[in-house]
Amino acid sequence: MAHYLVTGGAGFIGSHLVEALSLTGHSVTVLDNLSSGHKKNVETFVSNRVKFVEGDIRDTALLDQLVKNCDGIFHLAALVSVPQSIEQPKDSFEINLQGTLNVLECCRKQPHVRLVFASSAAVYGDTKICPVKETIVGIPLSPYGLHKWMCEEQAGLYAALYSVNSVGLRFFNVFGPRQDPSSPYSGVISIFIDRLRRGQAPTIFGDGSQTRDFVYVGDVVQALIKAMNSKKQGFAAYNVGRGESVTINMLWKILCNVVGADLPAKFGPAREGEIHTSLANISKIEMELGYAAETNLKEGLKKTYEWATQ
Ligand code: NAD
Ligand code: UD1
Repeated sequence: MAHYLVTGGAGFIGSHLVEALSLTGHSVTVLDNLSSGHKKNVETFVSNRVKFVEGDIRDTALLDQLVKNCDGIFHLAALVSVPQSIEQPKDSFEINLQGTLNVLECCRKQPHVRLVFASSAAVYGDTKICPVKETIVGIPLSPYGLHKWMCEEQAGLYAALYSVNSVGLRFFNVFGPRQDPSSPYSGVISIFIDRLRRGQAPTIFGDGSQTRDFVYVGDVVQALIKAMNSKKQGFAAYNVGRGESVTINMLWKILCNVVGADLPAKFGPAREGEIHTSLANISKIEMELGYAAETNLKEGLKKTYEWATQ
């Protein structure tokens, strides 16, 4: 059994990872500053094998101390809001880029430690190529996307210069239980489910023809663990999606169908700077890591709705 550090482990994706690792007998230290995560997300998993540390990835002394007894690091902590990164680019730089550099430095000092970190489809920006492959060089549209891309470049350099082995996973639109619907920039599925629970019509931005590749959080956890267990040397980036996309109009229709609701959506102005099409080519992760998206959209929506209404 291994001992892992999960940064951002009190967040949406991190808490599912912590749950999966602890259920399979591993020891986990969660490092989270609770800026967007919640202690209640991991409280139930805290045990003699799962420890919660409230702290910041910008605290290098703390990181050094926590990494000492680890076999691997899952680095998920980030300033996750794209609009916030546009308003506060320096915070994005310090948390997303410098924070990841801090983690890479720990790995450099502890060469046996393997690193898997969260990148994002945001590295592609508004590419016209669809489905998008890892070899495409995008033009990020926000500090968030730029800094996630720079994290990957940094990791590539650390592999070449210091033999630090790491994987960056470019998550597409992740959804599932524990995704927080409270901000207008929360994931669309968490917002739509919140509106359904209140019997309110959601607002579809634009004409709803825009497409997204929605991937269930359980499949993202599968990708994280497969990346950690892979023996690949050096650095590699992988798309993590379902390899299928859906329009936002269709998403609302499927969701209503899954929960037996008949509620027409309202339409509002399109979001500024919105990308129209997003679809992952997932053949690299399928072939190299043996990843397979197991939860289809309908099943994932059903599980998420059940969680929200329990
Ligand atoms: P989340 O906000 O639920 O989780 C992020 C966690 O990091 C939170 O618990 C937060 O408190 C913690 N954190 C933030 N800054 C920190 C700091 N300085 N020190 C310590 N902890 C800190 O978001 P999530 O959706 O679970 O995202 C997890 C990762 O996946 C992030 O790196 C995000 O950029 C990436 N990602 C998510 C999506 C998605 O669709 N949810 C898509 C692409 C990439
Ligand atoms: C997502 C990520 C973002 C990342 C980007 C990269 C989330 C929450 N955000 O943004 O971090 O940079 O991918 O490509 O995963 N919508 C509505 N009504 C709503 C909310 C949303 O119609 O109430 C629409 C949006 O206009 C968009 C789609 O739903 O077309 C998805 O929106 P959202 O979940 O916010 O994700 P992205 O915009 O794709």
